[in-house]
Amino acid sequence: MKVVIIGAGGHGQVVADILFHMWTKGRDLELMGFLDDMPERIGTSVLGLKVLGPVEQLDDIGHEAIIVAMDDNRARLEMARRLHDEPMINAIHPSAVLAPDVSIKPGGVVCAGAVVNPGTTVERGAIVNTGATVDHNSTLCEYSHVGPGVNLGDGVHVGTGALVGLGASVIPQVRLGDWSVVGAGAVVTRDVPEKETWVGVPARKLS
Ligand SMILES: CC(C)(COP(=O)(O)OP(=O)(O)OC[C@H]1O[C@@H](n2cnc3c(N)ncnc32)[C@H](O)[C@@H]1OP(=O)(O)O)[C@@H](O)C(=O)NCCC(=O)NCCS
Repeated sequence: MKVVIIGAGGHGQVVADILFHMWTKGRDLELMGFLDDMPERIGTSVLGLKVLGPVEQLDDIGHEAIIVAMDDNRARLEMARRLHDEPMINAIHPSAVLAPDVSIKPGGVVCAGAVVNPGTTVERGAIVNTGATVDHNSTLCEYSHVGPGVNLGDGVHVGTGALVGLGASVIPQVRLGDWSVVGAGAVVTRDVPEKETWVGVPARKLS
């Protein structure tokens, strides 16, 4: 399957690396290269793959699927909406450990060493980053991002576009509101309202 990666920044590189690992494990994938709207990236190479041009050139490149790999949650959502007619794949690193009933929706990304326990859903465009653990019956809503080394307890709800920063922990059954941000290293013990940023141990609203 011919795949174009949308976004050649840091997260795009991580996604390309995951897709290479999937290919080495026998997945039928042919990486065509990146498209990126940042002019300075065009013509450069990442992991031996070229940044072929801006996203508007997608129709000129033979492909069967795409993956939107921009690390900013809102940018990823907006790009996915712009390209909503395109078939979208997900990217799951072979070293990730997923329970058999875990559902990773199109555009979802699970990075190296992550663990996702039973009954959990990773919605469209959501990210489980390197080494994160997501306990059972949790929900990662669309375009949310669980950062590297995060630990989520059971039944945690990560709202649309929410970001859980590096190494944070969230105790069971907590709800993180849409577009909320949890700072790196925080320990979240209560629900976080939408669009708020909480930091610290225990986490409190950043004023
Ligand atoms: C919480 C966060 C979003 C705040 O970013 P910001 O709005 O730019 O805030 P600032 O850097 O201006 O910091 C504001 C204050 O909060 C403090 N602060 C920032 N991040 C903090 C954190 N994670 N924990 C505790 N305090 C923090 C700062 O020290 C500063 O305090 P001060 O006013 O007393 O000096 C950011 O620091 C963070 O932790 N982001 C997580 C990023 C991440 O892990 N992404 C995933 C990578 S793959």
